[in-house]
Amino acid sequence: MAANGGCKGESIFPKHVIVLIAVIMSFGVISCCLGHVRDDHHDRLGTERRSCIESERRALLAIRSDMYDSNERFSSWIGEDCCPWRGVACDNTTNHVIKLDLRYPLTDDWDDEDDICFMLEGMGASKVNPALHDLKYLKHLDLSMNNCFGANVPLMIASFMHLEYLNLSNAMFDGLIPPQLGNLSNLHYLDIKGCRLSDLRADDLDWLSRISSLIYVDMSFVNLSKATNWLHQVNSIRSLKVLHLKWANLPFVLSPSFPFNLTSIVKLDISGYLNLNTTILRWLSHASSLVYLDLASCKGVDTESLQITLGALSNLKEFNLQYNGIKGEILGIVMNVSKSLKHLDLSGNSLSGDITQILWNLGPVEYLALDGNELDGDISEMVKNFTSSLRYLSLRSNHIAGEIPQIIDNLTNLEYLDLSYNGITGGILMTFESIGNLQNMLSLDLSKNFITGQMPETFDRLYNLEYLNVSYNNLSGIIPLSMGQLSALSELDLSSNSLKGNITEAHFSKLTDLTLLDISYNSLNVILPNDWLPPFNAYSIFMGSCHMETKFPAWIHTQTRLEQLSLSGVGLSGNLPTWFSDFSKGLSNLNLSSNNLNGPLPSAAANEVIDLSNNSFVGPIPLSFANTSNLAILSLSHNNINGSFPSFFCNFNYLQVLDLSNNNLSGEVPTCHKSFPTSLQSLHLNHNNLSGRFPSFLKHCEQLVTLVSVKIICMMKYQHGWEKTFYP
Ligand SMILES: *[C@@H]1O[C@H](CO)[C@@H](O)[C@H](O)[C@H]1NC(C)=O
Ligand SMILES: *[C@@H]1O[C@H](CO)[C@@H](O)[C@H](O)[C@H]1NC(C)=O
Ligand SMILES: *[C@@H]1O[C@H](CO)[C@@H](O)[C@H](O)[C@H]1NC(C)=O
Ligand SMILES: *[C@@H]1O[C@H](CO)[C@@H](O)[C@H](O)[C@H]1NC(C)=O
Ligand SMILES: *[C@@H]1O[C@H](CO)[C@@H](O)[C@H](O)[C@H]1NC(C)=O
Ligand SMILES: *[C@@H]1O[C@H](CO)[C@@H](O)[C@H](O)[C@H]1NC(C)=O
Ligand SMILES: *[C@@H]1O[C@H](CO)[C@@H](O)[C@H](O)[C@H]1NC(C)=O
Ligand SMILES: *[C@@H]1O[C@H](CO)[C@@H](O)[C@H](O)[C@H]1NC(C)=O
Ligand SMILES: *[C@@H]1O[C@H](CO)[C@@H](O)[C@H](O)[C@H]1NC(C)=O
Ligand SMILES: *[C@@H]1O[C@H](CO)[C@@H](O)[C@H](O)[C@H]1NC(C)=O
Ligand SMILES: *[C@@H]1O[C@H](CO)[C@@H](O)[C@H](O)[C@H]1NC(C)=O
Ligand SMILES: *[C@@H]1O[C@H](CO)[C@@H](O)[C@H](O)[C@H]1NC(C)=O
Repeated sequence: MAANGGCKGESIFPKHVIVLIAVIMSFGVISCCLGHVRDDHHDRLGTERRSCIESERRALLAIRSDMYDSNERFSSWIGEDCCPWRGVACDNTTNHVIKLDLRYPLTDDWDDEDDICFMLEGMGASKVNPALHDLKYLKHLDLSMNNCFGANVPLMIASFMHLEYLNLSNAMFDGLIPPQLGNLSNLHYLDIKGCRLSDLRADDLDWLSRISSLIYVDMSFVNLSKATNWLHQVNSIRSLKVLHLKWANLPFVLSPSFPFNLTSIVKLDISGYLNLNTTILRWLSHASSLVYLDLASCKGVDTESLQITLGALSNLKEFNLQYNGIKGEILGIVMNVSKSLKHLDLSGNSLSGDITQILWNLGPVEYLALDGNELDGDISEMVKNFTSSLRYLSLRSNHIAGEIPQIIDNLTNLEYLDLSYNGITGGILMTFESIGNLQNMLSLDLSKNFITGQMPETFDRLYNLEYLNVSYNNLSGIIPLSMGQLSALSELDLSSNSLKGNITEAHFSKLTDLTLLDISYNSLNVILPNDWLPPFNAYSIFMGSCHMETKFPAWIHTQTRLEQLSLSGVGLSGNLPTWFSDFSKGLSNLNLSSNNLNGPLPSAAANEVIDLSNNSFVGPIPLSFANTSNLAILSLSHNNINGSFPSFFCNFNYLQVLDLSNNNLSGEVPTCHKSFPTSLQSLHLNHNNLSGRFPSFLKHCEQLVTLVSVKIICMMKYQHGWEKTFYP
């Protein structure tokens, strides 16, 4: 019953958040850090400081007037002295403004770069006021995370001869990066990361190579497709320590015949370099100071060159090679990586081999992602070689067999374990019975295996667990009450097993943070009183095929954020409660199919999926359905619905499946004008009293594959799928 089969795994692991929180907690000095700029201006001798230079103050106010959200973020920009203003810093002898930090303060944790860009695109636009030109003494300029809305990178920046730090990343600039930036001979940090949505480009990197002081360059997502000499040009910046050229459309380089000059390089990210040639890979073997290497989604990586290069990079701590379509034995790679490697991501390739030898060949690794390969072997043998340093392990979607042994319990640092989509057998009872050391576990996914036996009573000792997925196994027995003690749990998926027994209030007693509950497709009795006040307020509740009382559960009404609800085949009967008609408008996914509900259909408004089939609903299709223009699937089959086929279906441009079969609909099928349900793939109208001609709108439905309709075309019998070529 699981709703969407996306890789929840990645997003569930908020490692940045954890690290950030850890940093804040262990230092507790975040306020001092933020106050740093200010401190610079407090004269320690206590003498009266002169306020900032008036012309620069006026320039700052002009700059502010063109920035989005100019009241909120500039609330400290008042008074005569501009030096203590937030984001501003002045030189302590000349009083000139030397720092301007206008980075838009984002509160959320943006994991995904595309998300940031979409968010920025929706944010109000900012402009760089020409008065910026007056801040000639700037050493530090940060305009990142503003929506500069397709403007060019301001040319005046190239005249700030003192500039050491320039950050224009994610500022939505477009067009050619001015080569005059090559005049900034004091620049150490240059961050012009683009957005995938923007059109930022550089046709040549000659200007970049002239800035010999550079330590840090980020030009990810900048279109460098015309910078054919990029490698040579970058190679001449000997001071470079960090280079990010992610998804930069880097052109093909035949074979680098020049010596490797980047002897200080520590961090290199050329992920998404689709023209990577083996010769570059081998050339990189000279980068002996490299600590971080990201080659995700590159093409042209071959195992042999990889082995040679990895063998030479003895300081490597983090290596990323996701989605390269590499075939071959994984051991060849694993044996040659540095023993100081902490983070290895080989997911999404076609690597084969036995997992039991992998950890034996690695050093004390902390992060290991091997999901989406062809690995086999026995998990219990692998686990014997686990080291307590392991924090993250994903073996999702391989061919791993065996039982999870008890010693997994010794992995005291483990936070994330994903063994889903494998052939793991045996029980988990033994494994977790002695749990006591896995207190750091945040996310456990064992779904889609062949795990049997009962759920352990001692699950509650995983008291930091936020995500538990054991769906699609064959767990049996009852759900222990200790489940209700997992107070950090956010998503709980026990669906599609053979669990039985009663589900009671006690199963949820401390689950205050639960956002998703899926217990469908077991043999469970849900015994929750009507006046129950759940401790949680969930987004998704799936209880399909559970056994419930016939009366519609009133406690659902308390779930004010609910978006997805399935109570399919739970034995409900009678009318829907009156509150439900309003409530259902907020749901994007509603499944009440296969019950014995009667009375009128509920209202619909925001829904994407509505399945009310196999009930005894009566009356016409409510007019409120006309508002559901996002509807993708609508099934009302096997009810007693009457009235006509509403013409508002013509406007349902996203509708893929429409099943109104086995009802009492009458009248003509509408002939649509102007607007058509163009996404329709499947249409079922059989067993109604519909009349009229073949619905001509179907010729606009390019994707139609199933058409079941008795009265409209006599040839067509029920439940037949026709190919598109059969339409008139
Ligand atoms: C649990 O795992 C199944 C199978 O991998 C997946 O379809 C489902 O979406 C997952 N549940 C959650 C809550 O992530
Ligand atoms: C002025 O700043 C410099 C560094 O920017 C610092 O070394 C110096 O001590 C400061 N002088 C005073 C008087 O604060
Ligand atoms: C530039 O700004 C972005 C976003 O504000 C930040 O993530 C990045 O670390 C900054 N770059 C440098 C070199 O400090
Ligand atoms: C900046 O660089 C350009 C060449 O890119 C040059 O023509 C110009 O004179 C330089 N300007 C200054 C102020 O140095
Ligand atoms: C990059 O620029 C080239 C030409 O300058 C253009 O043909 C190509 O479509 C651009 N690529 C992207 C992803 O914008
Ligand atoms: C790299 O260093 C060598 C030797 O110092 C030098 O001859 C060469 O010009 C440098 N290459 C580049 C591209 O700067
Ligand atoms: C890499 O370059 C060599 C020539 O130097 C060429 O023969 C080979 O086909 C290239 N490989 C790929 C994957 O493009
Ligand atoms: C790397 O792997 C190759 C091929 O397996 C091997 O010949 C070589 O000795 C290895 N190099 C290192 C440094 O381990
Ligand atoms: C680790 O695995 C290797 C090879 O499978 C095995 O020989 C070795 O005994 C294992 N080490 C431990 C500590 O279990
Ligand atoms: C696991 O830890 C226990 C003690 O905490 C120890 O006795 C046992 O030997 C360990 N098992 C392994 C395989 O390291
Ligand atoms: C699941 O386990 C039960 C026993 O607990 C067994 O009867 C049943 O056949 C198993 N189902 C599958 C699909 O393995
Ligand atoms: C389950 O609940 C029903 C009804 O409340 C009760 O009769 C039955 O004894 C319960 N079963 C168990 C195993 O607690």
